[in-house]
This record gives sequence, structure tokens and C-alpha cells, in this order.
Amino acid sequence: MPDSPKLVLDQILYGGDYNPDQWLDRPEILTEDLRFMNEASVNVVSLGIFAWATLEPEEGRFDFSWLDERINALTANGQKIILATPSGAKPNWMAAKYPEIRRVDQHGIREPQNGRHNHCLTSPVYRKKVALLNAELAKRYANHPALVLWHVSNEFGGYCYCDKCMSAFRDWLKARYETLANLNHAWWANFWSHTFTDWEQIVSIDESVNAMVVDWKRFMTEQCKTFIANEVAPLRQYTPTVPVTVNYMTLFGDYDYWELAKELDVICWDSYPGWHDAPNDTPIALRTSFVHDQMRAFKADRPWLLMECTPSVTNWRGISKPKRPGVHRAIALASLAHGSDAVMHFQFRKGRGSCEQFHGAYVDHSGNQNRIFREMAEIGSELKDLAAVTGTQEPAQAAVVYDWNNRWCIEIARGPRNDDKNYDETCIEWYRPLWEAGVPTHVIDQTVDLSSYKLVIAPMSMMIRPGFAEKVQAFVENGGTFVTTYLSGWVDQDTNAFQTGFPGPLRKLLGIWAEEMDVLAGYEAQTSVATKGNSYGLNGAYSVEHFAEVIHLEGAEELAHFGGEYYAGSPSVTVNKVGKGQAIFVASRNDARFQSDLISRLIDQASVKRALPRIPTGVNVQVRGNFLFAINWAPETKTLDLNSSYVDAITGDPVSGSFELVPYAATVLRKA
Ligand code: GLA
Ligand code: ZN
Repeated sequence: MPDSPKLVLDQILYGGDYNPDQWLDRPEILTEDLRFMNEASVNVVSLGIFAWATLEPEEGRFDFSWLDERINALTANGQKIILATPSGAKPNWMAAKYPEIRRVDQHGIREPQNGRHNHCLTSPVYRKKVALLNAELAKRYANHPALVLWHVSNEFGGYCYCDKCMSAFRDWLKARYETLANLNHAWWANFWSHTFTDWEQIVSIDESVNAMVVDWKRFMTEQCKTFIANEVAPLRQYTPTVPVTVNYMTLFGDYDYWELAKELDVICWDSYPGWHDAPNDTPIALRTSFVHDQMRAFKADRPWLLMECTPSVTNWRGISKPKRPGVHRAIALASLAHGSDAVMHFQFRKGRGSCEQFHGAYVDHSGNQNRIFREMAEIGSELKDLAAVTGTQEPAQAAVVYDWNNRWCIEIARGPRNDDKNYDETCIEWYRPLWEAGVPTHVIDQTVDLSSYKLVIAPMSMMIRPGFAEKVQAFVENGGTFVTTYLSGWVDQDTNAFQTGFPGPLRKLLGIWAEEMDVLAGYEAQTSVATKGNSYGLNGAYSVEHFAEVIHLEGAEELAHFGGEYYAGSPSVTVNKVGKGQAIFVASRNDARFQSDLISRLIDQASVKRALPRIPTGVNVQVRGNFLFAINWAPETKTLDLNSSYVDAITGDPVSGSFELVPYAATVLRKA
């Protein structure tokens, strides 16, 4: 998107979802909200996310008067507006009159009207209604100076199996495969006699046909993408300079977010991890940072936005402890550290009823005289001092490949091991040493251009998508360091096994051949033993769990070997020097020490920039332009050694040498 508009900000966006439509009969509340917003330094609100029933109370009768009034009052009060299109929840009158907009489940049963995020993505009626309302909204607020961003719908997710969706799926398949012969071939459909002899036989999703399941997810991604395009068309027509976003969720599997990103100008996500689920929040902070770094990769030329998180509790979790004092501040600053230009929340004021009445908010049922509001106000005030952070995005020299097509393929594959496949966790585990070293990292997929990176780690790349192997080859020849693991190069884009042996198209580059996969039961103790004198930081015996591939060298050099079993002594870690670079293969799932040893050595070998030479475990340090962020997620005090002089960006105090970070302390330093 060459002329995709960017957000131009002179402050960090601070605010959140605001639902005045629930309070229209309480003018004193609406007035109080304006006061509370300013007390908390809220400078932006997301309006109208679930307001369809208020905006169009009956078919064709639009009522924007309340929205006009709120937008004007908020603008006069100093807030900017992120305006939502309300398609995330459909009004009752529409669901009753047009049953086709309600989803149908896998058993052919149409859902009753309830909940939200459950419209059919294909329904022409729903698409038409959405486009109509969006056009009205866009025309009405086109020239409003406070409108900064379009928030399209809400948290897209889920599938519909209605006749219209299945028919669109058949059309999509016809375009992809042209003939049934091609489709049957790609789907390996003769298996269990599932050969299709008429397109009309494709009426449900057969979980025994792996490729069909993956194609269905690709198709549903496409439906979501065209649904978004349909929503966005009138917005672009009437407000061409206002960027468009869709709020993503954490590693969410239904659709390929890389595809959806093509329709968007700005990337944002809603973050609700289980803070305080365990006494040490470092793993949660790590996982959250991994998603942050995926958000920054989707559009590497601009910041992303933390669109939602909770000021305190998340009401839908099993147990959601109120965030301890100071914790939300650390969460907020961590998002900026990883490239966000916003700290936004669900929600500004708690509703009185229905299922989110006890979700965290700035303003509680009893008003704003509480700890949470005080903390939110302090954060809001501090963020004003960090305005200079906005607009910048730190370039990344390292990348971890997390790919949706591959994820779907791993999920649907029966074998080589069904328990503990742990694709997400494995990618995050390989990301951990980069995070610990303060290396700006992108979380990318197989379609992304690799030429700007020095180090690329692609764990468990079971599916090799077209073009990826060639790209990796060129990357390594040009000097890149590439790392991949067991369960890589097993199948093609149709989920069909490569017949060249594993790791398939990566075999030559890696200089190894995998003969067999061993999977380990819990009672077994396998090890990967470092080869003495290796120059990759490997040392001693690493414990192995779940996966161990029996491999043979075909030009690569051994860095470690297996300690036990019938394949004891066979290589477990290898390196192949190709062109100016190197390709490393790790044949087993190893303990955390292994990833730390190998990756920290590779960071140095590849001259990947670290934020600081030494960072204590549990402290996340990130550079963003002239700023250095340091956040201590460990449950004990840590000491950080600085290598140059800084000024505390919030207090203005000079900082140099070493300084202490108590648990959850978050400091932002500016180069002096
Ligand atoms: C999501 C939704 C919000 C709200 C929050 C609650 O992120 O987008 O509308 O339901 O969850 O955690
Ligand atoms: Zn449908």
C-alpha cells in the first residue's frame, strides 16, 4: 500500500474504549466522564464499537445526534477520536429480519441471535448493511478534526459453515485448483475414498483431509480480508487521509494476520495475558513482548498501537488478580519499548450490567476514588513526558519466523507426535535469548523479505511455503545466519510430504538428511552433548524432551551429538557454511540453557546489536531511537550497568553507571 496513511502524533495515545451509548439516559455521568478523562490525562477514546443498535435503531433510520454531541463534547474537552465501525455486534432487528447474517455451525445449525463477533463473513446482506452504515459515518465525520483513526469492527474471529460460505469456498477452490483432478491430487483425496467427483460434494470440512482443513483456514482468511475491504471502501472514499486499523488478538489462529494486514494502515492488538498467574511474571512478559514484536513486524515502517489492555482485572479469566501496584505502569512502558505509540484500554468506565460489568476500567462503579484510577492518572501524566518516542520504529537485525500456514499444518498433522507439539511456546522459547539480550526483533512469517536481517530463526518449519527455501538460501549465501530445528521441511504448501526426505527443500542448505524422528515419553532422559572445542558456545550435556530427529551429515559439521538411545553419537546440532553465511540445524527440543548458549553466541558472531552488553535475567531492555527502556519483570531487585550517560526521560535526573531496578520497576532513559 504505497499511499497508506500513517498516524501522525504529537503525543502517546492514552485512553481506551468508551461506551457513552450505554449511558445516554445519565447526562451527569457523561459530564463526569469528561472531567475524569482529563484528571487521568486521557487524550483519546475509541467510540461506537458496539453501538449499531443506537446508531440504527430500526432499519434505515439512522440516529447520529447522540454521537455528534459526544464527539463534540469530547473534542472540546481535549480528546481525540478513534471511531469504530460497529459490525462486531449485530442488532436484534437485523438478526431477526435477515437470518442469513447469523452463523451456521459445523452441524448445519444456525445460531440464535446472541453474543457478538458472530456474523457470517460472506452474507451479502450483512456486507451491504455494514458498507451503508460505514458510508454514513464516514460522510458525517469526514472533516472532523478530532478523528484520527478508523477502528474497523472488533476482534474478527471464528468460522461460519452456512450454504453461502460453503458456496464461496467452492468458488475459491475452483479459482485455486481449476479442476477437481487438481484438487483431489493436492488434497490426497483418494485416501479413505474421499475423492470428489462434483464440486457440490464439498459441503463440510473433513478433518481427515489435512489440506482441506488448511485450505478452509486460508479461505476464511480471504473472507475476513474481503469483509474488511468492504468495510474500508467507504471509509477510504470519504476520509482518504484517515488510517484504518483492525484490533488483532494474541497469537490467534483463525486467520492469517499477515494477509489481513494488507488491508490495514495501522496495526494494533488487544493484550490480556494472565498477569500474576504465577509468582514470576517474566514468562508472561516474554510472551507479550513476542506478540509486540510481531505487531512491529507487520508494518515495519511505522509504530503499532496497544489498542486494549485492562487497567486491572480481566473478568473472563479463571482467576484474574488485580494488577499489583506499579505493574500496569511496567506493562504500559513495555509496549512503548517494543514500538507502540499508544497505551489504550478496555475500558474507560465499567458498565453496570451484562457480562463485562466487573471487568477492569479507569472508572469503577463507585467512581474514581480508588487505587486503579490514581495509578492510571499517574501513568497518563508520565506519558506526556515521553511524547518524543512517537513515530519512531527501531530497525530489527534479528527475526523469528512464526507462520500461520505452518501453524495450521502442525495443528492438523496427526503425528509424529500429538501431545506437546507446542509450536507457539517453541517459537517464544527461541525468541527468549534475543529478548534477554535486548535485541530488537521482528516476528515474521515465511513470506517476509529476509534481506534486512542478520539472524533468522525458523523453529519447527514443518511446511515450507513456495519461495521460502530459495529466499533462505540467498539469505545465507549473502552472509546471513539461519537456524532451524526438528520437524522442519516435512511438507509442501498442500500439507503433502516431501519425497526427497526431510528437511525437504532445506536439505541441501542445511547439509543434513533426517532419517527418522524419535519422540520421547516423559520417563525418558535423552541428551544433546556439545562437541568439544565447538565455537558456538555449546558446552556439556543439554537435556532433550519431546522431539529428537535422527540425522546424517551431508556436508554439515557436527556441533553436538545425542547422548543415548540407538542413535547415540549421531549428530544433534550441525552447522553448514554456505557462501558468506551459515545454516544451523538443531535436531531436538532442548532445555532453555541450550537456546541461551547458542543464540547469544550467534548474536555476537553475526554482530547483531544488543541494547547493552550485559543485562540481568528478567530485565527487558529495548532501544527505541534515543530512548532506552529497562523493565524488571523478575521478582527480585536487579542491577543494570549502563555504558553511557543518560537522563531519566520522566524525572529529568541524570543516570549513569549502574542502577537498581526493584521488581516491576520500569525506567525510560534518554541519551544525554
Ligand atoms: C476484548 C474486546 C473488548 C472486551 C475485552 C475484555 O479485547 O475487544 O470489547 O470485551 O476483550 O477483556
Ligand atoms: Zn456464512
